[in-house]
Amino acid sequence: MEKVGVVGFGVMGTGIVEVVASKGYTVIVRDISDTVLQKGMEKVRNSLNRIVAKGDISAESMEEIISRISVTTSLESLADCDIVIEAASENLEVKLTLFEQLDRLVKSNAIFASNTSSIPIGRLAGAVERKDRFLGLHFFNPVPVMKLVEVIKTLLVSDEVLNKAIAFVEKLGKKAIVCKDVAGFVVNRLLVPYLLDAVRAYESGLASIEDIDNAMKLGCGYPMGPFTLLDFVGLDTVLSVAEIMFEEFKDPRYAPPPLLRQLVYAGRLGRKSGRGFYEYEK
Ligand SMILES: NC(=O)c1ccc[n+]([C@@H]2O[C@H](COP(=O)([O-])OP(=O)(O)OC[C@H]3O[C@@H](n4cnc5c(N)ncnc54)[C@H](O)[C@@H]3O)[C@@H](O)[C@H]2O)c1
Repeated sequence: MEKVGVVGFGVMGTGIVEVVASKGYTVIVRDISDTVLQKGMEKVRNSLNRIVAKGDISAESMEEIISRISVTTSLESLADCDIVIEAASENLEVKLTLFEQLDRLVKSNAIFASNTSSIPIGRLAGAVERKDRFLGLHFFNPVPVMKLVEVIKTLLVSDEVLNKAIAFVEKLGKKAIVCKDVAGFVVNRLLVPYLLDAVRAYESGLASIEDIDNAMKLGCGYPMGPFTLLDFVGLDTVLSVAEIMFEEFKDPRYAPPPLLRQLVYAGRLGRKSGRGFYEYEK
């Protein structure tokens, strides 16, 4: 694999693009507006600048990495990619439409991967002819830091594609774990009920947001508390993930608490919008 396409240049797309370009691949990323693409490139630059400041890479290497990245609003520009990683909003219709279009445009031997946090991959693969070349590659946030990628194996993906994808993940310096195609996969199966329980605990008046965060940090040794993590992931993304997992399992542990919904309706999406459970400087 030489040329990588990424669709969606938000929280995850920017991280994926940075890591892929840093490992020497040519990458082209598609989002829906020039403004989003510009903001995304700024985010990648800022992140690489921090690595330069730490002395881990030189300023020249950073420019080389940047020069391997191109941005576009046209899906057609991804036609000659060897692998396309979809990291668009967590919305079934958006993803199905994208894959239907990509299947017509992108060369037939390319691999398709979705970074969805919760939608069963087989549901998305339904949108394409190349079901044997379709799998899940679930990266974690922030992508340049987090070492895990869940590789999700559908019933129809070929062993050849699965092995190629694992080799690709390892080339990115990540640890691949293979899991079955069940909504939420491994990490969100366990993490989402915990995050939603934290919101329910706060809603019930158990303790303040800060104290619940401190309890889990200082009492359990977690690197950040649940509300800091919720804001970091994005409350809209967590809400969509919870809805999809609730739909799949009909288990109340995945039912989104009213407060989470209220915050999303109010545009308080977490760090990315400047305010979620906490407030952030712009
Ligand atoms: N945020 C996390 O911590 C996290 C972690 C792992 C996986 N994910 C998954 O990654 C995916 C992206 O999440 P995110 O947090 O980056 O969301 P985000 O809201 O930050 O970014 C989504 C991006 O997709 C773009 N987009 C929407 N429709 C598009 C289209 N048709 N073509 C191209 N781009 C389009 C939006 O403009 C936006 O820039 C979701 O499936 C999410 O579940 C998120």
